[in-house]
Amino acid sequence: MKRWTNLALFVLLGLAFVTGWVAFFYATAPSRASLIVHAVSGYAIVALTPWKSVIASHGIRRRRSGWWASVVLTALVLVSVVAGILHSTGLLVSVGVISAMEVHVGAALVAVPFVIWHVVARHLPVRAVDLSRRSLLRAGALVAGAGLAYATGEAAVRVLRLPGSERRFTGSYEFGSLESSQLPATQWMFDAVPQIDPRTWRLAVHTGTVTRQWTYEELLAFDDRVRATLDCTGGFYSTQDWSGVWLSRLLPAGIAAASLHVQSATGYDRRFAIGSASRLLIATSLGGQPLDPGHGFPVRLVAPDRRGYWWVKWVSAITVDELPSWWQLPFPMQ
Ligand code: HEM
Ligand code: HEM
Repeated sequence: MKRWTNLALFVLLGLAFVTGWVAFFYATAPSRASLIVHAVSGYAIVALTPWKSVIASHGIRRRRSGWWASVVLTALVLVSVVAGILHSTGLLVSVGVISAMEVHVGAALVAVPFVIWHVVARHLPVRAVDLSRRSLLRAGALVAGAGLAYATGEAAVRVLRLPGSERRFTGSYEFGSLESSQLPATQWMFDAVPQIDPRTWRLAVHTGTVTRQWTYEELLAFDDRVRATLDCTGGFYSTQDWSGVWLSRLLPAGIAAASLHVQSATGYDRRFAIGSASRLLIATSLGGQPLDPGHGFPVRLVAPDRRGYWWVKWVSAITVDELPSWWQLPFPMQ
């Protein structure tokens, strides 16, 4: 049982980690599908506590070298799971500027090196026995129990009308929709707000050897509009009215290319399939007002049905080229 418990924890931690990121990647149906697997793996980890406690207390009593790192790991997993549940139920969505979702993902990220160390230092013996009928039955019982816990939790959130019942399929909470002044301004990880002078700023559109420099005034002449939902991985979403110009209108007609690369003045970037150009808006205004620096002044990308981190702010260059649209890290590193 000891070996089985550790192996199950190993698989479940990996599954929770991967499905969490898959959910962050999408703002469409796959996000929910992934979150169901995610939540069930999370509950299954919790369900193994009685068995893991026996293993852990044995290891701690023996004072194996580095035992304290395992205790730190335990604390991180605990913080992550508690923050995840606080977010999902809506019992505590944020404290000041820190959201429960940020704590949830932050603790999971910090836990990664500890998990790697733990698995290497404590060994993970995988033997044929792990695929025995008994092991598989145990796994089935664990998944069924965790699935039931998840379903019961979701039903309780609805019956008790906890704030969590209002969240979107991505797990995010509505905030300040159609009140542009309420839209929070957040950055992905380490990106910082630049101050840009619109008189000298240009939007450079590179296609092959040709570069077209658009001025702010030129872009203000367009009035393409879209109502779109910004779904932030920080745990909120907000529907707003944006206007500007469809990106496809800034490209020469009839270009043959695979993707377009949108770059911010800060260096932050995302790549999109060329076919999406007609659904991406280069926005100059939010709720009828020019953008403010925090929201991407002078222009930002509005990418409907994409998570917030695809909505590149302070756009300064667009390059159309032959690279496939998946030629990028799934998540930016800045
Ligand atoms: C939720 C994730 C996990 C937590 C919170 C956790 C926590 C702990 C703690 C606190 C200890 C006792 C201190 C020590 O010996 O270092 C321990 C021991 C141990 N853990 Fe984990 N662990 C987790 C996952 C895993 C995984 C995935 C493996 C698979 C390799 C594993 C294998 C072991 C082993 C073999 C021991 C030593 C037990 C002994 O000395 O008798 N653990 N764990
Ligand atoms: C140690 C790794 C992780 C564990 C054990 C874990 C576990 C959990 C648990 C138990 C919940 C609450 C589910 C519910 O009650 O509905 C949750 C929610 C959530 N987690 Fe994780 N998680 C981990 C890592 C991550 C990571 C790395 C991400 C994103 C990159 C992530 C994204 C989410 C999201 C978006 C929710 C909200 C789901 C909703 O409200 O419906 N998690 N997680």
